[in-house]
Amino acid sequence: VTDVAKRYRAVTERSGRHHERARRVIPAGATRSLNDWPPNPIYVTHGSGSAIWDLDGREYVDFLNNYTAVVLGHAHPAVVEAVRERLEKGTSFSFSTELEAELAELLVERIPSVERVRFMGSGTEAAMFALRLARSFTNRPAIAKVEGGFHGTYDDVQVSVRPAMDRAGPIATPASLPETGGLRARLAEDVLVLPFNHIAETEALIEAHRDRLAAVLVEPILGVGGMITPADGYLARLRELCTRHGILLVFDEVITLRLAPGGAQELFGVMPDLTVMGKIIGGGMPIGALGGTSAVMAHLEPSGGYDVYDPRSGGARVYQGGTFTGNPLSLAAGLATLRIMDRAAYERLNGLGDALRARVDRLLRELEVPMSVTGLGSLFNLHATPGPVHTFRDARTADAERQQAVFLGLLNEGVMIAPRGMGCLSVPMTDVELNRFEMALAAVIRDVFTGGC
Ligand SMILES: Cc1ncc(COP(=O)(O)O)c(C=O)c1O
Repeated sequence: VTDVAKRYRAVTERSGRHHERARRVIPAGATRSLNDWPPNPIYVTHGSGSAIWDLDGREYVDFLNNYTAVVLGHAHPAVVEAVRERLEKGTSFSFSTELEAELAELLVERIPSVERVRFMGSGTEAAMFALRLARSFTNRPAIAKVEGGFHGTYDDVQVSVRPAMDRAGPIATPASLPETGGLRARLAEDVLVLPFNHIAETEALIEAHRDRLAAVLVEPILGVGGMITPADGYLARLRELCTRHGILLVFDEVITLRLAPGGAQELFGVMPDLTVMGKIIGGGMPIGALGGTSAVMAHLEPSGGYDVYDPRSGGARVYQGGTFTGNPLSLAAGLATLRIMDRAAYERLNGLGDALRARVDRLLRELEVPMSVTGLGSLFNLHATPGPVHTFRDARTADAERQQAVFLGLLNEGVMIAPRGMGCLSVPMTDVELNRFEMALAAVIRDVFTGGC
């Protein structure tokens, strides 16, 4: 393991030096806490198709794609052209452009439960407005989210994302643990934590809190929590419980819109009241969006001007907006991307993902190492645990040191995934990239698990 890190440090020498420089002016040397991995992160110069390059001039096959946001590969000509064309007409305005309704129409057409859409600057904002809207709509104070669920960095969702297992409590009543410093001490009282894929326990918790819950917020596939697919009937059960108790069901499809034109809701046939969107719908540019039924989304629609937000009016409506919401560059990149992502493109990409996971699974069995792979479609996660990984707590049994060594080892071999093992494919990939991945993983496993280095 130490040798893998030493080799990594040697081949990323320039990035290491840049890290020292950046740390003098930026906490941890990077504007994204994720990129604070030891011994140093890499710094990227550019990307093209399935590849990115770092400061040391090394090329990586990019199986991370800005944490799934880039689906067409880097600098896709159609996206570059769409953004260039808009750029020449001005970067952003105080008013909407036609692009806003164009992208909204496309999303409404494709995503079964979505009848109205509002655009935001990020997935974080979309999750934040979803919860605020749910509280306003139901006039209830609390929300429920799942253990291991990630929905960005708004206070209410920064609870039990990667909780320490010795503090996480029993599976029937998972603790609501703050994920970051700076949260209000009493926040946890209004955030109920549900155990993903544990149907009976989830049902009991929702029943116990039904009168206080405004929303149940869930990623249909647990993303950051380990790319774990929902158990049979889990999402449908959530739908039934929410309908029965007047709770809004909110799907966070920020990642899962990669699975089908209509997202995971199309794939699993379960319709939420609200859908949180982001990542690929901005074609690699900053974006977030909230979609939902007309009845719920109408609460973002003041009919009497700004006065409806006056507390004296009862505060029934939700104010939403921002300087860069619906900015034309993100919308243009998103439209160019989604127009290429027709059903055939999704099917091809999903097939490639299925092939990759099957090959990795076979390799892990052949080499008899305590590792497993999860995922669906173009999404996957390598776990340094023998598995099977069906729940968040299964994923947390991974050996942290080996997980990190696999990540650094793959970087040494020119293959980029997330430090926690997550990865995804992009449209320009073919068997060539799959072969690179398989060979790199085989070499790394020999190093990390059999001490071959
Ligand atoms: C499922 C999910 N929801 C929300 C977010 C937050 O989106 P953003 O980073 O655009 O704020 C992310 C980001 O990784 C995500 O994976």
